Amino acid sequence: MPNKCDFITLADYNRDEIDHLLDLAKTMKAQVKEGIFEPRLKNKVLGLVFHKPSLRTRLSFEVGMYQLGGNAVYITDKEIGFGKRESIYDIGHVMSRFLDGIMIRTFDQNDVVQLAKASSIPIINGLTDQTHPCQVLSDLLSISEKGVPLDGIKVAYLGDGNNMVHSWLNACRAYDIDFWFAGPEGYDPNTDLVEAIQMEGRGQARITRSAEEAVAGAHVIYTDTWTSMGQEEEAAKRREVFPPYQLNAKLLAKADSKCLVMHCLPAHRGEEITDEVMDGPNSIVFDQAENRLHAQKAILVHAMSNR
Ligand code: CP
Ligand code: NVA
Repeated sequence: MPNKCDFITLADYNRDEIDHLLDLAKTMKAQVKEGIFEPRLKNKVLGLVFHKPSLRTRLSFEVGMYQLGGNAVYITDKEIGFGKRESIYDIGHVMSRFLDGIMIRTFDQNDVVQLAKASSIPIINGLTDQTHPCQVLSDLLSISEKGVPLDGIKVAYLGDGNNMVHSWLNACRAYDIDFWFAGPEGYDPNTDLVEAIQMEGRGQARITRSAEEAVAGAHVIYTDTWTSMGQEEEAAKRREVFPPYQLNAKLLAKADSKCLVMHCLPAHRGEEITDEVMDGPNSIVFDQAENRLHAQKAILVHAMSNR
């Protein structure tokens, strides 16, 4: 199996490598704004495998491939039957004969790892139950381009200790981020990962039950849905325990007036975030959405241009 550049978790990438991806994303974003589209992936084809719905991830990878002079093929688990119609081992070998790379969004992170082992082409994780590294890479870009340094900042994360939180924690390995997770008991992120960051990370990770404590002095306040894809049956139960962590005007008033409000989207307005905050002056949520395109293009060029 030739060496290949998978993008499965930010934990696999060191500081210099993430900085390189961010620089590449900034360069290509500036080029797009000037109408320059370098065909860095001419004739390359990316497979897009979705086992869950998507707006931003699909658009960013599909439009990204077109802008880079390549193409994308969208396929869902209905056709593939991951591990049911066919083994992951066989799927990886077959897809490697057609494609130059695969972006996959699925449930179990281990399936992505298995697919990467079975494939000779780069595998990009477009979200699993455990992580969402593409989103956090874009988020780092969004923060940085607002002139906020990635070192020495406090990030407050409100809500569920989900895939987004795990990828943020992985970002704390590389950057000196003081990461505060605030959520209800029973919904903490993976505590092994939190401890690993506390021990080895360039940044810090803390868990609190107080949204007010988390947002105090924060440069970034981040939230996400209380019910992630695949957890829909728990939605009613979750709506009972998460309201103290809603990002609303009252809570925002306790934060620094210049803090950035972020959300990976899709948002459930009126649940984890209110309209006035999401549409307010601190919010950069739609910049974040746009930056998915530029950051994902950087991953694509990094992973696929030397194949
Ligand atoms: N933020 C994000 O990944 O959006 P989609 O689920 O729409 O792709
Ligand atoms: N935590 C959310 C993120 C969506 C981009 C989910 O997994 O559904």
